[in-house]
Amino acid sequence: MESLKFSIARIPSIYFGAGMLSLLPQKVRLFGTRCLLVTGSASLRSSGRLDRVLQLLKNEHIDAFPLAISGEPTPEVVDDAVNEFKDSDIDVVVSIGGGSAIDAGKAVSAMLPTGNSVIEYLEVVGTKQHNGNKVPFIALPTTAGTGSEATKNAVLSKTGKAGFKRSLRHDNFVPDIAIIDPELALGTPLAVSAAAGLDALTQLIESFVSTGANPMTDALAWSGLEKFKTSFMPLCAGAGSEISHRASMAYAALMSGITLANAGLGVVHGIASPLGALFGIPHGIACGTMLAVAVKATITKLFAENQDTYLQKYARIGSLFARCDVRETGRACKRLVELLEEWIEQLNIPRLSSFGVCRDDFTAIIEQSGNKNNPVKLNPDEIAEILEQRL
Ligand SMILES: [Fe+2]
Repeated sequence: MESLKFSIARIPSIYFGAGMLSLLPQKVRLFGTRCLLVTGSASLRSSGRLDRVLQLLKNEHIDAFPLAISGEPTPEVVDDAVNEFKDSDIDVVVSIGGGSAIDAGKAVSAMLPTGNSVIEYLEVVGTKQHNGNKVPFIALPTTAGTGSEATKNAVLSKTGKAGFKRSLRHDNFVPDIAIIDPELALGTPLAVSAAAGLDALTQLIESFVSTGANPMTDALAWSGLEKFKTSFMPLCAGAGSEISHRASMAYAALMSGITLANAGLGVVHGIASPLGALFGIPHGIACGTMLAVAVKATITKLFAENQDTYLQKYARIGSLFARCDVRETGRACKRLVELLEEWIEQLNIPRLSSFGVCRDDFTAIIEQSGNKNNPVKLNPDEIAEILEQRL
């Protein structure tokens, strides 16, 4: 039997809990007094939270340069920001927002010292290797989804027929500090939280059953799945204490970021990339719409190949979510798929055709899809079959 062997990349210094936002000025001051403040949608501004953040920083004599970005970041957005601020002696980049704002800030912090276009460093698209030098970076997530506050990559995309969705990646790009304050998510529209939560769930499941998983990532993914179970559907239904559900979901997303960075992901993320790039399908929706059918196809193939180790892991998730006997592997796997189907139905997660996808597009989608670390490889026909089921 092989001995245990794995590696874990850096994990940010983590400050987790309601009210942790107040720590931001002292954390910025660890690096200096000039900060680039990257934010996402208008909601931070309209809720008055942006003013509060700016006031907090001003009180500590920190110069904040706000940069608002909308939608998922493109290479152009990153290059423009770098050109605008490269001579501004920025000591630290701070992102407050969803995955897009955090990825944008992460990429800007990485590119400020280079002076080159970020596209040259994107996986697959570019040819250059980044040396890892960056401006320090602090992430404050306001949605519980991508887990980007704990990952080493920033996803940049270009949408359309020649579109792509690729990562800028280096171990050093893991944020230096993550401040996770669930109060920042209070009042987020529930549809937004549902899509983000399905991304986190997909990341937890895919990293837990990944071919790159290890006992440490398993433990972290499992604790994320437990918190997810407690709070996801109650939050989406508007039931119970919002702050405690937001905290559970923020925890689940954080764990999913750590585990995806260290264990990898599976075929749902392999398909979600071209769905986002070619059709502009938001990442959480792409994951949510494909999750149940992809898990079902993977489990079916694992049974056909008698791959019991992975099946037992799916069965553990099934027993956690549906309270069935983990020893009945087949039944627990079946219950997991049924439950995922129920959630996606109840949450009205749209089908692919509502984003303009049709059968003629399958070839292009499949060409750009990857199995990543899926526990069993799905071939092009099998991927076409699961796309068909969600058309
Ligand atoms: Fe994701």
